[in-house]
Amino acid sequence: MKNSKEIFAKINKGLEERVNPGKVATYIPELGNIDPNKFGVHLTKIDGVEYACGDSNEKFSIQSIAKVLSLIMAYNLENEKLWKRVGVEPSGTPFNSMVLLEHNKGIPRNPLVNAGALVICDILISRLENPKQELLAFVREVSGFPDINFNPKVVESEKSKGYRNASSINLMKSFGNIENDIDEVLDFYFNLCSIEMTCKELSHTFLFLANNGVTPKTNKRIVSVSKSKRINAIMQLCGFYDEAGEFAFKVGLPGKSGVGGGIVAIHPDEYSIVVWSPKLNPKGNSWKGMKFLERFTTETELSIF
Ligand code: DON
Repeated sequence: MKNSKEIFAKINKGLEERVNPGKVATYIPELGNIDPNKFGVHLTKIDGVEYACGDSNEKFSIQSIAKVLSLIMAYNLENEKLWKRVGVEPSGTPFNSMVLLEHNKGIPRNPLVNAGALVICDILISRLENPKQELLAFVREVSGFPDINFNPKVVESEKSKGYRNASSINLMKSFGNIENDIDEVLDFYFNLCSIEMTCKELSHTFLFLANNGVTPKTNKRIVSVSKSKRINAIMQLCGFYDEAGEFAFKVGLPGKSGVGGGIVAIHPDEYSIVVWSPKLNPKGNSWKGMKFLERFTTETELSIF
């Protein structure tokens, strides 16, 4: 890994020369205001060595990547009871699909599709006194960055167009899989998705999943070894929705994407890497982020397979 910086630069240059056919997400209008050409990478190894390039110190909307953090909070509170409310199977459908939800009587296929993340938010509202504050406190502690916050503009923007999430949660409520008020759960979910971080902050935040559940910098245990294994397994199988197979095939790491254009990927016992490029492919994952990671694991030969 000595030459990661050179490898980043080389891959970036190769990708610059190709047309990027991706499109910035505009179904959340506020996300459409981003400069589509932003690009950053940050890699953190568990031994503390870091490499970065491009716009790696600019905040962006982490969107669905935050679902992993809410899942961890809920898993720590509920333990294995959690899986009565949500499955652990890949969906093979887009992140906002409702096709399987009706068939499975309101039990989402996994916690990383929107419906699953909404159930996780419902659980946290039932279990926590101040869900939003406690979520932020958790994320700040895990990341080591005390200024991490929600973006209220993104929350309002998503709320104004959140038709599909509203449909999913109503369907789940009709099956008895949502305990709390629908608007309260949606508000918490939109705040979760609006969290902003830089590539560096995200890479530090997720490093405990490369280190058997312990944050290397502070030696704090965030989840048990077994839960860390399971979260990585869920990311591997469900982190990219109907492109999870393609990501495993081409990149070979557990990971999670967001419609803000971020991708985090974990190499257990080695590193966490974050790539940010806002233009998305048709499956809602960063076009350049996927290509970059494919080249990175291929050239360094550092994937789990
Ligand atoms: O609920 C939504 O549609 C967004 N807040 C999150 C979707 C997302 O990031 C999907 N991932 N690629």
